[in-house]
Amino acid sequence: QIYLQGMLQGTKPEITTDLARLESQAAGKLSAEAMGYIVPSAGSGATARANLVAFDRWRLVPRMLRGSTERDLSCTILGTPMPAPVLVAPVGVQTLAHPDGELATARAADTLGITYTHSTQASHAIEQIEAKSKWYQLYYPTDRDVCLSLLQRAKASGYGVLVVTLDTGTIGWRPADLDRGFLPFLTGEGLANYFSDPAFTAKLAKPISDDPGAAVMQWAQMFPNVGLGWDDLGFLRDNWDGPIVLKGITAVEDAKLAAEHGADGIVVSNHGGRQVDGAVAALDALPAIADAVGEQLTVLFDSGVRTGADAAKALALGAKAVLLGRPLMYGLALAGQAGVEHVLRCFLAELDLTLALAGYANHRELNRDSVTRA
Ligand code: FNR
Repeated sequence: QIYLQGMLQGTKPEITTDLARLESQAAGKLSAEAMGYIVPSAGSGATARANLVAFDRWRLVPRMLRGSTERDLSCTILGTPMPAPVLVAPVGVQTLAHPDGELATARAADTLGITYTHSTQASHAIEQIEAKSKWYQLYYPTDRDVCLSLLQRAKASGYGVLVVTLDTGTIGWRPADLDRGFLPFLTGEGLANYFSDPAFTAKLAKPISDDPGAAVMQWAQMFPNVGLGWDDLGFLRDNWDGPIVLKGITAVEDAKLAAEHGADGIVVSNHGGRQVDGAVAALDALPAIADAVGEQLTVLFDSGVRTGADAAKALALGAKAVLLGRPLMYGLALAGQAGVEHVLRCFLAELDLTLALAGYANHRELNRDSVTRA
């Protein structure tokens, strides 16, 4: 399509098709504060770098003459039908990247039939998201009334799967934000789910419009929740009747505990390297986890996926689907909904093409023999 348009109409894509180069293109559009929040990672950036290096250490081994003319990437993940094993990762405060924020990302995903995951720390409220296929990501607050209310609102608004992020009991050591003294949430941005929540506002002495600072401080007392334990998941099981996915697992033992505690799925993820600096690369953690719990749990993956070829590697190493984080934010920054659509389309096309050229009719055929250590 792109080649034909170039030949017949003399046009070319406004946003690069080199998904690994999106970051530098987006840098020209974003404020220093937005770049500082979205791009960097925790501490020295070691985990984020390791996430990318880990992909480079695995190589696909293409097979020839296998007649892969017709490809079918469709699948059903935890009861959600998908055109391809790709989801939008939960990313908070997306108005930093573009004024339309999550509304644009959700619309782009919806246009392509891709499942959108809505963050607890979004700049738009749970009820504002219009997408046929949407999952809700929970940061488990210390206040159970607010927790219950968020779950009920998500259920009432048609979110099918609950994704509970475990790796962010509080925000990681992020020098790019610390050096600026800038955390978007303290300005009130990214608190739409809280500010629209009846259980939350009931706890405030004054309406938010009269004292927004007090509302932010109230959130700041509920968000950090490093005291959570495995037993706290029972409350979610009791109050959410759909599938539950635990996000942020990199230890095999934790994957087994997730299965024991009734989770339906996990996301092998280190939050894109934004939490524990020096942590294991997510891809390096994946194979052993898939071996240990792949039969019992739906194993999903994120952190460092940049290209369709990366997705093929993660699928070969045991993931049932991958989530995309930063690349979509760069698309959002560059052109709002159209930018997210462009990135998703390129990503899906490259995954499809990778399978075609490597001799696979569908992604389920990918396995450990499809890759080798570089
Ligand atoms: C995130 N991520 C995230 N995760 C989550 O569960 N809730 C959230 O609110 C956020 N917010 C957030 C903001 C920004 C700016 C980024 C970059 C990431 C983590 C996200 O879901 C995912 O795990 C990573 O983005 C995956 O890594 P890549 O694809 O960015 O390398």
